[in-house]
Amino acid sequence: MFGDVQIAPSLLSADFMNLERDVQLLAGAEPAPEWLHVDVMDGHFVPNLTIGPPVIKSLKKITNIPLDVHLMIDNPEQQLDWYIDAGADLITVHLEADSRVAEPPRRPGTSLSVERVDDPSRIIGLIARIHAAGLLAGISLNPNTPAEAAFRFLNLAELVLVMSVHPGFGGQRFIKGSIGKVAALAAEAKRIGANPLIEVDGGINAQTAPLVVDQGADVLVAGNAVLAAADPIAALEEIRQAVL
Ligand code: DX5
Ligand code: ZN
Repeated sequence: MFGDVQIAPSLLSADFMNLERDVQLLAGAEPAPEWLHVDVMDGHFVPNLTIGPPVIKSLKKITNIPLDVHLMIDNPEQQLDWYIDAGADLITVHLEADSRVAEPPRRPGTSLSVERVDDPSRIIGLIARIHAAGLLAGISLNPNTPAEAAFRFLNLAELVLVMSVHPGFGGQRFIKGSIGKVAALAAEAKRIGANPLIEVDGGINAQTAPLVVDQGADVLVAGNAVLAAADPIAALEEIRQAVL
């Protein structure tokens, strides 16, 4: 029923004091994860602050697993090159991110949404810069942003990331409305002959994974379900088994 689903453990749930240990642990899985998902938060676009370019640069030195860098930052135009230079393999930007850096941080459990992207040239420009650097490009949608806002970019980006929690924190509950959004994106991609990977991020575990894979998800981000488990390798395997 399902194709080859890729798994991207989120390092947000790793032990930051032992990041290398956790990366090597994940790399030892059989098969190893297809991606390592790296959550970059700026304290503005989301009400949390995580890691930035120096840590990504260090990660790149210790692993060959491609780095899937999820930019939850305002004004990505200004900082994009940092992440390219640090060694990201794929960079995802949010449709909702803009240049209004003076706004107060969003409250936990909420996030900005857009009905439509009125100035697509911004997103198109970001994708072009990511491509020009030889990287894969992703676009992401917050939970309250409709799938339609991403439609016009489906034939430009290699990946579309559906947030299934309000971004900012690991360990939140999966938002069920994401299931229909995955289906809508998959249907529109098929209709226009585009083939982006559909990635789902937030609250993914062995129970929720099949719900989105069934609708066309290709890449599953899993933070807490893997790295907060007593046995992360077994937890990774449990998710793979659930979508076989
Ligand atoms: C949340 C991040 C996610 C997070 C997912 O803003 O984008 O990547 O790590 O964590 P879990 O899988 O615990 O919901
Ligand atoms: Zn993420």
